[in-house]
Amino acid sequence: MKKILVMTAILISAVAAFNMSSCKGKKSEPQANNKEDSLKMMVARGEYLAHNVTQCIDCHSIRDTGRFSMPVVPGTEGGGSGFPFGKAEGVPGEVTPPNITPFALKDWTDDEIIRAITKGINKKGDTLFPLMPYHSFSRMTKNDILSIVAYIRTLKPIERTTAPRNLEIPASMFGPLPEGNLDNNMMPDPSDKVKYGQYLTTAAVCSECHTPMGPQGPDFSKMFSGGFVFDIPMFKVAVANITPDTATGIGAWTEEMFVNKFKNNASDEVVNRHPGKENTIMPWATYGKMTDTDLKAIYAFLRTVPPINNKVEKYPK
Ligand code: HEC
Ligand code: HEC
Repeated sequence: MKKILVMTAILISAVAAFNMSSCKGKKSEPQANNKEDSLKMMVARGEYLAHNVTQCIDCHSIRDTGRFSMPVVPGTEGGGSGFPFGKAEGVPGEVTPPNITPFALKDWTDDEIIRAITKGINKKGDTLFPLMPYHSFSRMTKNDILSIVAYIRTLKPIERTTAPRNLEIPASMFGPLPEGNLDNNMMPDPSDKVKYGQYLTTAAVCSECHTPMGPQGPDFSKMFSGGFVFDIPMFKVAVANITPDTATGIGAWTEEMFVNKFKNNASDEVVNRHPGKENTIMPWATYGKMTDTDLKAIYAFLRTVPPINNKVEKYPK
């Protein structure tokens, strides 16, 4: 039963992020002199988002399980995951993030790719299992989504096909999302650190892992307080409490400590070591390359969520 609950967590946490507050603010569009420049700017923005914020490349590539935070194996970017997500990740069955390089998506129109990312419907019209975080991505601006599409079109085509999914229940239980209009999603002004941080925290799918499970499914009264244990063959790790609780969360962390933790954990020195059983599923290697401005905004937003006392033992026996 637990696995169904966890899966529901993925869904509902995304919906909660949606409901928490709408991201309204000033719309920021890249300024470019001509079409070519503006495409270049979009691809660069898309590359940053896909690698360092929205984790598209992390999920859709082969990961090196022998190195800290399982970085992507160079040369496999977007070619599909190396293993299916299953029981340990709360999936009722198995689903492998498929190939999203031009080899797989060459016949898809931009609108079809956008529909998959933000509504959860693929080219064939099937509902995607919500491990693909389309609920969160549906909160992003049209410009950011278009940038991601522009970028994934530039990936090196990788000729590789992953196994079809095998679910014990129909994915249509969880989606697709009703038709909405991405034009209504506004980019908060970065000077409004909390709002901007909330936008990024949603896009970076932090709550998908950091919201704990209660007996009835995800417990939103305890959002971001962690506790879920990923029990995968190589190691076992519990999700940390990142609420501002001083005793058990990150309440005592300064902004500088927060930013440094991300930067240090993404350094070659840390990522290249073999952590053995003390590895993590938290993608530090990619998040840690976010800009200081973005990390500080995420920190500012996390200071505003309710502090929750929940002691988590990171490496349970
Ligand atoms: C947490 C892991 C995860 C992340 C992050 C993620 N995806 Fe996915 N994605 C999946 C899974 C799993 C599927 C397959 C779902 C299914 O078949 O039911 C999928 C499916 C897709 C599909 C449909 C492909 C097809 O052949 O049907 C596209 C396109 C896609 N993802 C693009 C993206 C993009 C772009 C991003 C970043 C904005 C992204 N994904 C982020 C896990 C992820
Ligand atoms: C795929 C699951 C996953 C996602 C997504 C994720 N985390 Fe984590 N996070 C973990 C796990 C597991 C740990 C505990 C192990 C560790 O420290 O790496 C953790 C630890 C942390 C810690 C360290 C806390 C401590 O006490 O040491 C911080 C801070 C953190 N996460 C913030 C974030 C933020 C911010 C995001 C979104 C940008 C995020 N996490 C997204 C799984 C995740």
